[in-house]
Amino acid sequence: MLAPAPGSLQVDATLGGGGHAERILDASTPDGRLLGLDADPRAIARVELRLRARFGDRLVLRQVNFRQLATVAPEAGFGLVDGLLFDLGLSSDQLADHDRGFGIRTGGPLDMRFDPSQGVPAAELLATLDVLELTALFRRYGEEPQAVRIARAIVAGRAAAPIQTAEELAGLVVRVAPGGPPGRRRIHPATRVFQALRIAVNAELDALEAALAAAVDLLRPGGRLVVLSYHSLEDRIVKRFLQAERRGCVCPPSLPICVCGRAPRLRLVTRPSLTASAAEIAANPRARSARLRAAERLAA
Ligand SMILES: C[S@@+](CC[C@H](N)C(=O)[O-])C[C@H]1O[C@@H](n2cnc3c(N)ncnc32)[C@H](O)[C@@H]1O
Repeated sequence: MLAPAPGSLQVDATLGGGGHAERILDASTPDGRLLGLDADPRAIARVELRLRARFGDRLVLRQVNFRQLATVAPEAGFGLVDGLLFDLGLSSDQLADHDRGFGIRTGGPLDMRFDPSQGVPAAELLATLDVLELTALFRRYGEEPQAVRIARAIVAGRAAAPIQTAEELAGLVVRVAPGGPPGRRRIHPATRVFQALRIAVNAELDALEAALAAAVDLLRPGGRLVVLSYHSLEDRIVKRFLQAERRGCVCPPSLPICVCGRAPRLRLVTRPSLTASAAEIAANPRARSARLRAAERLAA
């Protein structure tokens, strides 16, 4: 979808372990350049160690939230680019880190911040939000049907023993809402609660909206925007954004002529979207919920 050519400028806004970055740099040999962003300082350090020697100054790294894309990219020399990739959510490295609380099964202190220097850890939200706020959080970001029961149990239990670890939170959800989300038998009952907390802690949906808008401004005509999302909340934002940019005009249908003057800026490349094949999911089960949408910048 990105088709990175030699000499091209690409942005990987979600560097993670650098898997995509590495493939993009290989494909744009000998002189394509890539700007890799990640909010997580550990991701930047890992990729620096793994890829710097091989790619030298073709690889530019910045530890930053992608909500700052509009300023960070031009400052790094990527003012007009050929491709922009978002592979949303958390990485396998983060899931495996035992001291961050991302994984239900890996456990650890409930922090969940991509950038541990910003915002508040998940445990603090569980210790301070009231029942209504926790219920809203689990509903909004986890679409969790048992949100009220779980919120009440957290607040009732925390005076005696506040929840500090991923194991404690997973145990509580299993006790009060053991059924888990309907129709998804293989996932852990606490999956949606963990997703909701992570999204809230990192303000993920707000960051995505800001970054998508910046991404279109950075693309040169013919350049590609590619987004991989992993749940319906992310995908809805991406889908609506791409459709609005494909339409251009934002005038209400009741108006006989366009008065906003906005022209379409994107052409959709994937209609409607792509998912992984059965063979890919068998080889990499984490691809099962991935949904890819791609669009191309028009000259407007
Ligand atoms: C699914 S992983 C990317 C994996 C990567 N494509 C690879 O090949 O290894 C998502 C990464 O994006 C980062 N991330 C998520 N939201 C972010 C944001 N708003 N700003 C910067 N980085 C973010 C996470 O820290 C994580 O490392």
